[in-house]
Amino acid sequence: MTARKRVGILISGRGSNMSALIDACKDPSYPAEIVIVISNRPDAPGLQTAAKEGIATVTMDHKAYSTREAFEKDLDGALRAAKVDLVCSAGFMRLLTEGFVDAWRNRQLNIHPSLLPAFKGLDTHKRALDAGVKLSGCTVHFVRTEMDTGPIVAQAAVPVLVDDTPDTLAARVLAAEHKLYPYALELVASGKARVDGERVNLAEKQAVHGAYISPYLG
Ligand code: GRF
Repeated sequence: MTARKRVGILISGRGSNMSALIDACKDPSYPAEIVIVISNRPDAPGLQTAAKEGIATVTMDHKAYSTREAFEKDLDGALRAAKVDLVCSAGFMRLLTEGFVDAWRNRQLNIHPSLLPAFKGLDTHKRALDAGVKLSGCTVHFVRTEMDTGPIVAQAAVPVLVDDTPDTLAARVLAAEHKLYPYALELVASGKARVDGERVNLAEKQAVHGAYISPYLG
């Protein structure tokens, strides 16, 4: 097997997507390993979870920095020191400037809880319900400077139910996120998904089965 890709995860909070990625990496045949978890919030519960899994953690409180650039310089330094190949943002609540995004261009993924390009940004589920959509879902994409844009690697759809609240929809989408992120990272880390300009092309077999997955349809 070729060397597993070394992955750094950026979090700001709970870290349930981080946990899904950590669990996926426990399979020795999975093409990636998590080598570092970095949080911009010292109180992020995900830091404890990662530490319990024996993964190196770094707290980098953005409030301790006078500029975004200074914060990102340290972030970049920590990722490079850990010899990271791929960065996965997982509930990381900081916008990144062009310098950082360009340095990690096509090597940084993010997960967003909507079917992009719909409902970028915050309050996703409330806005989806207000719009009356009948399907929602989640998207894993490569990161670009504009928030929640970038080449889409994979998406999963879930139904919107008549009595949904933002919380019930969020929970259904989150369950799909936990399947989608490991799937998308596997595609990227194995080289089955490749960026071509602003699109992701998938190897032939994946094109048949896989950019769309639905945990509800099996
Ligand atoms: C997820 O819904 C993710 O899509 C969004 O923020 C939430 C983070 O949850 N960007 P967790 O920290 O991974 O549990």
